[in-house]
Amino acid sequence: MKPSRQQEHWGSRVGVVIAVAGGAVGLGNFLRFPGQVVSYGGGAFMIPYLLSFLFIAIPLASSEWALGRRGGRLGYHSPFGIYYAVGNKSRFWGLCGGLSGLTPLVISMYYIIVEAWCLLYALQYLGGLLDHCGLGFSLLNEVKPGLLLDSSSEYGSLFESFTGMNADGSLFKNAVSPLAVVTLVCAAANFYLIYRGVSKGIERFSKIVAPLVLICSFVVIARILTLGNPTGTPGQSLIDGLGFMWNPTREIVLESGEIVRSSVFDSLSNPEVWLAATAQLFFTVSICLGATCSYASYVKPNEDVALSSVTATVANEFCEVVLGGLMAIPPAVMFLGIQAADKFGSTFSLGFIVLPNVFGQMPAGQFFGFLFFTLLFCAAITSSMSIIQPTLALFQDALRISRTVCVLLVSLVVLSGTAFVCWFTKDLAALDAFDFWLANFAPFLGGVFQTILIVRVWKLSNLQKEWDSGAIVKLPRFFGPIIKYVSLPYLAAIFAFWCYKNLKGRVLDVAENDVAQYSLIFIAALAVGLLALSWIVIERWKKEERLK
Ligand code: ALA
Repeated sequence: MKPSRQQEHWGSRVGVVIAVAGGAVGLGNFLRFPGQVVSYGGGAFMIPYLLSFLFIAIPLASSEWALGRRGGRLGYHSPFGIYYAVGNKSRFWGLCGGLSGLTPLVISMYYIIVEAWCLLYALQYLGGLLDHCGLGFSLLNEVKPGLLLDSSSEYGSLFESFTGMNADGSLFKNAVSPLAVVTLVCAAANFYLIYRGVSKGIERFSKIVAPLVLICSFVVIARILTLGNPTGTPGQSLIDGLGFMWNPTREIVLESGEIVRSSVFDSLSNPEVWLAATAQLFFTVSICLGATCSYASYVKPNEDVALSSVTATVANEFCEVVLGGLMAIPPAVMFLGIQAADKFGSTFSLGFIVLPNVFGQMPAGQFFGFLFFTLLFCAAITSSMSIIQPTLALFQDALRISRTVCVLLVSLVVLSGTAFVCWFTKDLAALDAFDFWLANFAPFLGGVFQTILIVRVWKLSNLQKEWDSGAIVKLPRFFGPIIKYVSLPYLAAIFAFWCYKNLKGRVLDVAENDVAQYSLIFIAALAVGLLALSWIVIERWKKEERLK
């Protein structure tokens, strides 16, 4: 039986696209993408990335929009309800949908923390700017207002101490840390906005924040493009920075000091690179994370999904490759050189160590640092709402209780995981485990199952009808067959290739790391809880149908 509650919808067609694009454009675009490019070989990473954009992101995003709107029309808004309804009300698809709720739930648990880091850095820069008018303040212990330190190692130590990377539980020792407070503020803002509803909360807020993100990005990029070669050192110009990102081969310094040219083949024969490139697209476009499917379920039945999905995906890609690509890697190369960019090449060190160091050396860097972290925070909050919404929709679909109680339940569950990650901060082991298993590994399984549901159970003919209904511009007929004959085998092949070569190594890593094991136990407990809830609710729905 359909859950009995008032149907919610987005306010306008433009509003849907802004909300979905706002949900997609987030930390993935401005932090994760440049970090992945640097970690996986610069331009060599861009080859699988662009292939996955064509074969996975565009087709799967449009099919997920159609699946979501179909589920919404049947009265469901969570992947759980949508899979159950579209999967001919079978227990199997209901349970798959319930389990797929794990991905957005776990990602939201740590995403809020990184969002809080961005807000904290933005406030720290603001404190420095206000210092000029005698109103300065500092939220980070032992640092003056602003973020002006002397070297990368000082920025690194600051990052380690404020995130608690030195020891587990350090955020809760002595006084409560500013980070814990800011994290709670971010969480409260998210819960309040989703409580307001998709149109009055998420859509209205996204319409305010999206232009702010674009304006701040353009100002920061204008500054970067007009810097020339700021240190005057050969090999540190804007072109060198762009070359680092786009050139498939580059010079690398071996431990022996010898300089060699990297090989594209080495990168392309490494399944980690393919897994990371495709997972980056899942993450950034928010596909197979539950978010797009849930947002699309609030699109009115007679409104377009075909053009909206392509528009939102392309807008997200512009923000990632053009804006995110220009904002992080080129300035790091321009100020610190290619070797430093290589050395600090992980997602967080690039964003929170290398870039503050770059802003520290740039004329008016405090102001641009403030803009950069403000735009990160604004982009992050619209994305975190989009990954919390599927869990709210799950409780709403499954339990017939008021919205207020559902939001309270969601906040309890999400904050339990956030507290877990905030406690196990040593080397960010819990955050890394959550991120790898839920943002890199799980979307592949989710993607394969979701695509099978669409092409085998729902059928391509129904998918095409859903795309055509209300379409402003119809999607070409070959989209459906591409999903069936290209996207699905492509996904399955990368996943199988990775499992064959790398799964054992990953499992051994987990066996050696206590916190990674606790994290997997925590995730498994959540999975069991979701499966149990799904099972109970499916049985209740089945019973109600029989009684009818
Ligand atoms: N799509 C969101 C991001 O890129 C989750 O951050």
